[in-house]
Amino acid sequence: MSADAWSGIIARTGDMGFYELAEKALALEKEGKKVVRLNVGNTNLPTPRCATDAAVGSMERLKSGYCSSAGLPELRQKIAEREGCDVDNVVVGPGSKHLLYGLLSTLCRKGDTVSFPAPYWPAYGLSCRQLGLKAHEIKTTLDTRWEFEPAKVMARRPKLLLICNPLNPTSTIYAEKTMRDAIAGAQDAGMHVVLDEAYKGLAFRDVPRYEGETVIRVRSFSKEFSMEGWRLGYVVASEEVAKKLISFNQVSVTCVAPFVQQAGIACLENEKAILEENRKAWLSRSEAAQNALAKAGFRFAKPDAGIYVFATHPDMKDSCSFAMDLLDRESIAVVPGSEFGGYNSFVRICVNQPEDVLADAIGRMGRYLENAQGI
Ligand SMILES: Cc1ncc(COP(=O)(O)O)c(C=O)c1O
Repeated sequence: MSADAWSGIIARTGDMGFYELAEKALALEKEGKKVVRLNVGNTNLPTPRCATDAAVGSMERLKSGYCSSAGLPELRQKIAEREGCDVDNVVVGPGSKHLLYGLLSTLCRKGDTVSFPAPYWPAYGLSCRQLGLKAHEIKTTLDTRWEFEPAKVMARRPKLLLICNPLNPTSTIYAEKTMRDAIAGAQDAGMHVVLDEAYKGLAFRDVPRYEGETVIRVRSFSKEFSMEGWRLGYVVASEEVAKKLISFNQVSVTCVAPFVQQAGIACLENEKAILEENRKAWLSRSEAAQNALAKAGFRFAKPDAGIYVFATHPDMKDSCSFAMDLLDRESIAVVPGSEFGGYNSFVRICVNQPEDVLADAIGRMGRYLENAQGI
């Protein structure tokens, strides 16, 4: 079928290189190749035992019915305690990606502008395109440790400000002053600020809790609790926004599988120990990757959190060709920086492998660049 024969929102999404590269890596694995997949944010850590036990127990009790589109009351209660809010401010959904899409769908109208600092998680740009929203990318650089200027947020009179903190792909944490100034400016203009905190529990130092009348926090169980495939996340928002999001869930998914929510409750009951252990694993992996990257001549901002390093190399000019060639010739998958807002001399590496595997793969990346000379 010709491209313009497609109608509907998927036609607006356009190029999805991030996902195409991921599919290619999987196809190579299926052909029998051993691919080191440092591209997708899979944690490769076991889901906590308490979570799987809770889910199995729930299944065995034959609780097969639907539940509220807002989430199980017990899970919402646990989240409210964690977040210091009321239960009515909490909405549970099948992963934070779905909830972010729901927020963009319910808070913005076609043609509205959404501002977010770049580099950014590719799903922000793709969701905006799919929903007919204009993306205003606030460019930042490695030299300033990816800090954005709050004054630039309002440049295009956005409807909504979206900030990922800690940031995917750099794993850096924005300075508290930057965050407070940006939030205050947005609040004064009556704008919503969506804080994507998918990696907050994996930060190597404390991340403040940012609150406010128009502040919406989004969190995920995927990375913090190694439950990527389970699909569980939540939003903390004003009651008004929460109600809209519950309607979005009613139309789109009805509810998250109750046994998955039971697993979420078990994680929150054991949060301290689980997150301590996971942070330790990510710190060790990240440090191994950072050492290998520095040795191979890469530059990057030192990560403040798991699970990525966003790195550049003097011999890398076109990250897309580099990532494709690296996959074809060395069977190593990384994501080109072009996918995160045009950072063409960067790649994102997910440090989701044992330390020795990371050191070997990054060493090979460096040697490949040296031999390819200016790819
Ligand atoms: C910044 C960011 N936000 C949200 C998500 C979505 O996570 P999930 O839908 O698995 O909760 C991801 C996943 O990679 C992410 O990187």
